[in-house]
Amino acid sequence: MGTPGVRRLIRNGKVTDPSSPSLATTAAGITFQNPIVLAAGTAAYGREIANVVALDRLGGLVTKAVSVEVRPGAPAPRVADFGDGMINAVGLANPGMDVVKRDELPWLAANVQRARVMVNVVGRVLEDFARVVETLDDAPGFQAFELNVSCPNTRAGGLEFGADRDTLTALVSQARARTKRPLFVKLSPTLVNIGEVAKCAADAGADGITVVNTIPGLVIDTETRRPAVGFGSGGVSGPGLRPVGVLATYRVRTAVSLPILGVGGVTSADDALQYLLAGASIVGIGTAALADPRQPERIVDGLRHWCAAHGVARISDIIGTVEWPS
Ligand SMILES: Cc1cc2nc3c(=O)[nH]c(=O)nc-3n(C[C@H](O)[C@H](O)[C@H](O)COP(=O)(O)O)c2cc1C
Repeated sequence: MGTPGVRRLIRNGKVTDPSSPSLATTAAGITFQNPIVLAAGTAAYGREIANVVALDRLGGLVTKAVSVEVRPGAPAPRVADFGDGMINAVGLANPGMDVVKRDELPWLAANVQRARVMVNVVGRVLEDFARVVETLDDAPGFQAFELNVSCPNTRAGGLEFGADRDTLTALVSQARARTKRPLFVKLSPTLVNIGEVAKCAADAGADGITVVNTIPGLVIDTETRRPAVGFGSGGVSGPGLRPVGVLATYRVRTAVSLPILGVGGVTSADDALQYLLAGASIVGIGTAALADPRQPERIVDGLRHWCAAHGVARISDIIGTVEWPS
């Protein structure tokens, strides 16, 4: 576009003042310097990837799952590429809340200054979520919790926590009672009415909604006639998930007024923009960052260029501005 403001921002194809346009977004009282965060389970606890990713250039990162107990995880192979995306069955492997508190959160506190950190929480029974939240709450190194209610509830025969309204209400309100930090609730794309589930989480005290988690799938190796991942079935992520996640974001946005972390299939700045237009305040990147750890930084640069080229002074101005057909 040829507006004077845009000419000031771009010279020789480069944005001349990197602090303008503003990429900052605020969600649940937390200001992110830009909307791009690393999605849960794909950045470990930050330390493991710090030598390949400039974490403080990103908006933030969500840690790998944290459970009450140590989880050894699922048998290998845990991930498989199937061309159009990835399937994973990691089994939410993690060292347990006490080790994360002792070893991982202090590292994040000492080494991550500008990026915001959210701790992803999982459980086998609903009380586990409140226990993890209570145990980690006085630790340094993070700003919010993300409750992964897409994982199986062992007491309900493996039905995911988010699929039952009473369970979800109890889970979120128990966690709410243990912390003043913002609570994001992460939902599965398979929920029948995701907007209503988001409303249920909001009524129980959630401060934000993350959509979406992976979608269940099966990839079979036709030579061995065995599933591609050791557990059998797994979670599908990557580009094919993007339209599903963007729609879930739009549906949640129209159902509740909470901020949204949109995630699923983002590989480029254009993909991230789709989530922002649909209503996300923050955008997560998982599979694309596993494939190329520098891609999230390029996406931040791409957002800055897009804003400059479109005369958008603040990226937060475009959140939720998709023009829905009437
Ligand atoms: C290897 C792997 C591990 C994951 N671990 C977690 C996890 O611990 N907790 C969680 O809530 N989501 C987890 N996820 C889901 C991602 O956070 C994200 O919701 C999903 O992969 C969709 O985003 P993507 O298409 O950008 O990967 C994991 C995904 C992958 C690929």
